[in-house]
Amino acid sequence: MNLNEYKKQAAWAALNYISPGTVIGVGTGSTVFHFIEALSTIKHLISGVVSSSDSSTILLKSKGINNILNLNTFNSLEIYIDSADEINSSMQMIKGGGAALTKEKIIAAIAKKFICIIDETKKVNILGSFPLPIEVIPAASSFISNEVIKIGGKPRIRKNVITDNGNIILDVHNLCIHDPVLIEKKINLLPGVVTVGLFALRGADVILMGTNNGVKIIEK
Ligand code: A5P
Repeated sequence: MNLNEYKKQAAWAALNYISPGTVIGVGTGSTVFHFIEALSTIKHLISGVVSSSDSSTILLKSKGINNILNLNTFNSLEIYIDSADEINSSMQMIKGGGAALTKEKIIAAIAKKFICIIDETKKVNILGSFPLPIEVIPAASSFISNEVIKIGGKPRIRKNVITDNGNIILDVHNLCIHDPVLIEKKINLLPGVVTVGLFALRGADVILMGTNNGVKIIEK
């Protein structure tokens, strides 16, 4: 089976966690693409969705899921379903490969349950092989690049990408993230950082991992 099939399996398995009448937080990316397809089959059962990106909003609408609600009207959501670029055994993640990390982090913060849907290649022992995305305001890119070099990273501005919030993405290569909480806190403190794509302080609650032997469920 190919990776896309693993993603699909995990995405469809997330339907089991959805209770009728709830509002669903929806992530971004190629795995979530499958989830949106799955969700469209039960769209009459849910109250609406909160979308993490313009691209997911377009996709949701194209699948007939039109009740897209404003994130600002919620302080709490029952459930958030999204993928990750990497996830470790403590359920801490690197996210932001799709540049949607800021709204993703806000939705994760208000969600009671974060279900992470992945193919098995996303599960790692130590975070950092995938370059760590940081959304920064454009005027801060030089300062923040220098700061991440000090902690051992090699920053690169992601070419031809402007986020939904009008900012840029610095991808930090070469980091071996042994203490994700510490690195998340350090980067959060830098002026000009909008969001760091380390989801360590608020990780996932459940992992649904597509594998050769079906979907593996890992709970906290
Ligand atoms: C989007 O900004 C990301 O956080 C995605 O969740 C992550 O990049 C995983 O994407 P794929 O499902 O495309 O691998």
